Amino acid sequence: MKDVHATLASSLESFRAELFDFLRIPSVSARSEHDEDTRKAGAWVVERMRTAGLTAELLETDGHPVALGEWRGAGPDAPTLLIYGHYDVQPAEPLELWTSPPFEPEVRDGRIYARGAADDKGQLFLHLAALHILLGTRGSLPVNVVVLAEGEEEVGSPNLLPFVERWQERLAADAVVISDSAMFAEGLPSLLFSLRGLAYAEIRVQGARSDLHSGAYGGAVPNPAMALARILATLHDETGRITLPGFYDDVVAWDEETRAGVAALPFDEEAFREGTGAPGLSGEAGFGTLERLWVRPTCEVNGLLSGYTGQGAKTVLPAQAMAKVSFRLVPDQDPARVIAQLRSHVAQVAPTGVTVEVVELHGGRPWRARPGGVFFEAARSALEEAFGVPPVLTGEGGSIPIVTEFERILGAGAILLGFALPGANMHAPDEWFPDNHLERGIETLLAFYSRLDASFPASSAPAGPAGSSGTDANR
Ligand code: BES
Ligand code: MN
Ligand code: MN
Repeated sequence: MKDVHATLASSLESFRAELFDFLRIPSVSARSEHDEDTRKAGAWVVERMRTAGLTAELLETDGHPVALGEWRGAGPDAPTLLIYGHYDVQPAEPLELWTSPPFEPEVRDGRIYARGAADDKGQLFLHLAALHILLGTRGSLPVNVVVLAEGEEEVGSPNLLPFVERWQERLAADAVVISDSAMFAEGLPSLLFSLRGLAYAEIRVQGARSDLHSGAYGGAVPNPAMALARILATLHDETGRITLPGFYDDVVAWDEETRAGVAALPFDEEAFREGTGAPGLSGEAGFGTLERLWVRPTCEVNGLLSGYTGQGAKTVLPAQAMAKVSFRLVPDQDPARVIAQLRSHVAQVAPTGVTVEVVELHGGRPWRARPGGVFFEAARSALEEAFGVPPVLTGEGGSIPIVTEFERILGAGAILLGFALPGANMHAPDEWFPDNHLERGIETLLAFYSRLDASFPASSAPAGPAGSSGTDANR
């Protein structure tokens, strides 16, 4: 392994410069004015995969393209890894809250600041760099590798499911590896045991045909803003439980081992609160903060719009009100079912005199890991080697909608090892990724492949005939 570590050390600076080039492309998938940039970022990934020694192409979808890279030199008898990441980023607004411009990456205090530094360009890049080093120094890997980088994760991956179904055979894999999350704490790496799912909807309330004078009409004509507030107020009871009938029917109880593991984590609740700046914490009664974040479902208002919100006062009776409402889901909740429950609940509680409409936006299923197995154990010991301590098992409150679909369609278990740190400001101003995790992350992945080397020794010389009788490579 000496050659690869020496290569990592001597390549680190150019890797950082390359990552900066990647971060400079404003691939904001949500904004059509950035469509060209988003495609450019996909093309950048394709080029970078080719430089690393993979064959790669940009495959079209009905939205932003997928960058797909392949290295199948381990032969048909060796296992295959699918590495997933995304090259699109969230919008950077509000720009005035950034210390340095979002698409002009900069290192300050050991942190790389840029939109996408943590989510997910920086983490996707670690995988490309590790493959580059291994293929460059040794010319081979113990496993076949397929890298799928999509450009629509931040808008709910609307075209990825049909893509995975269409290319099911090409994407066939024994494990899916994803770095798009955070470690539990600095110096304490983690492997995820869960991701929450998502069900996102818009509630639209319509009253009068247009805005009215609130003196001339108010009191006699219904107010959509008040109607919406009433509807929203019914979504939780006073203990913080969600009131939709049947909402908790599919929520599975977590096993004692997982709960005990969560309880044993070194979690500083006051530091967590302080990090948010909120005066206090709140949530579902009977659960601790980490449980509220990881193993319990939630309902949140993500946005509200109605009436006059400009300077000063305007006496107006709004004609419309709108709320963006999303639910984070846990196994085995189904997003479509939750939206249906929301629809019937809203119909039930809607005040008279207004029309209320629930429009489904996007969704994704929750995910629960199946720990164990060669790949999971390789990830565990690789993290321990790179960080000096074994990883803890943690949940994650965020969502990566395609993970459960990968497992369902491809039959491969997913392994989520993230290298960002808590407080990375994903989706927020001043997003950052620890500069030293560029090296640590790549080291982890090198160690990961070296573990796989031991589990799947090459069945033939790298250039040898494909299919020559593998022994241990047959799983
Ligand atoms: N990488 C995040 C998910 C995540 C966030 C993992 C924080 C770990 C820590 C991903 O890019 C994301 O933002 N997902 C969205 C999904 C949505 C757009 C469908 C999310 O969770 O809101
Ligand atoms: Mn992400
Ligand atoms: Mn994200």
